[in-house]
Amino acid sequence: MSIKKVNHIAIVVPDLDEARRFWVDGLGLDVRAREHVAAQGVDVAFLPVGDSQIELLAPTDEESGVARYLAKRGPGMHHICLEVTDITAMLRHLQALEIPLIDETPRLDAHGVQYAFIHPKGTNGVLVELYQLPAED
Ligand code: CO
Repeated sequence: MSIKKVNHIAIVVPDLDEARRFWVDGLGLDVRAREHVAAQGVDVAFLPVGDSQIELLAPTDEESGVARYLAKRGPGMHHICLEVTDITAMLRHLQALEIPLIDETPRLDAHGVQYAFIHPKGTNGVLVELYQLPAED
């Protein structure tokens, strides 16, 4: 059970197309993947940066958590995502230390990635996401 790397840093923006002006036209990053995640009411774009990525999140549903975040705090950094070798073991370990978790068991995304969020109360104020990529075979 260990941390492998920073998988991505997520930033909330009002509009993905408008955000391209800085991240794509300005910095010269490419958009590797762009998708709509209906369950969370967001459009998401991943922009590789070396071995990590920038994740841009734009709400498409006014009721979504990301829409409420944007309304309350404006655009900005939303979470950092750390890739781990064993997400279940890491969550058990954090639980044993009484670190408050948002997800006590991993959730599964459409690409087979297991993920879970840790509450900012337990992380010095930063929303932390854990990722475990599907085994390559
Ligand atoms: Co993320």
